[in-house]
Amino acid sequence: MVELSLPANSRPITGKTWSTGSEASNIKKFQIYRYDPDSGENPRIDTFFVDLDKCGPMILDALIKIKNEIDSTLTFRRSCREGVCGSCAFNIDGTNTLACTKPISEISGDVKIYPLPHMPVIKDLVPDLNGPYSQYRAIEPWLQADTPAPNRERLQSKEERAKLDGLWECILCFCCQTSCPSYWWNGDRYMGPAILLQAYRWIADSRDEATGKRLDSLNDGFRLFRCHTIMNCTNTCPKNLNPGQAIGKIKESVFQRL
Ligand code: SF4
Ligand code: SF4
Ligand code: FES
Repeated sequence: MVELSLPANSRPITGKTWSTGSEASNIKKFQIYRYDPDSGENPRIDTFFVDLDKCGPMILDALIKIKNEIDSTLTFRRSCREGVCGSCAFNIDGTNTLACTKPISEISGDVKIYPLPHMPVIKDLVPDLNGPYSQYRAIEPWLQADTPAPNRERLQSKEERAKLDGLWECILCFCCQTSCPSYWWNGDRYMGPAILLQAYRWIADSRDEATGKRLDSLNDGFRLFRCHTIMNCTNTCPKNLNPGQAIGKIKESVFQRL
């Protein structure tokens, strides 16, 4: 039976409020989810105050400032700080997005930062992404062709190459994946929008010769057809991609083969 309320030991409680530590006037309040499974304690929401006059403009700048200057135990992933590695995806102000490309100035009240929703939490803002990555492995995300490789590269026309636009830009941040209600409830069997967009990236590639095999493996009531076109995925993608449309194109390709 579906459990509709959180188990008591996973309900966030009010955590520590850190001192502002400054007389500055341009102070912003950050409320951040903290969780350490090894402690046996409930998750908590800690409150931090950041002087925006001494902080970079993005949410990630504030997180790094908090970690460097207030609480070094705050745990989160980040790497490129320019929206290309996909590692700083969190639920910020109620929306899944990248902390490094989200300006603090776009949030009018307190800034609330949680891990990506509906994933097991390893610590604080770090979700366990083993599930989606094993699904990514399952779609065999590499070019497959039986015809012998030419001496130089496998050529594409400009039109064939253009079909990959809107797909190759995906950075696997999983903002879409973790905003999808179908994935929340059936993430063990439904591939989810990020993985399906990646699958379509190879289906749409004129150089790939495994299209039939790829479509056969996705043609399943759960793996592909659990998408109900709710479009949360497309609405949340920080790279302005359209996983909902890519899923629609896979469905069309499946139907054309019948
Ligand atoms: S369109 Fe499909 S993949 Fe996107 S949020 Fe809706 S159900 Fe999930
Ligand atoms: S489609 Fe967008 S939201 Fe989804 S994983 Fe790729 S970049 Fe992230
Ligand atoms: S740090 Fe790489 S996408 Fe944000």
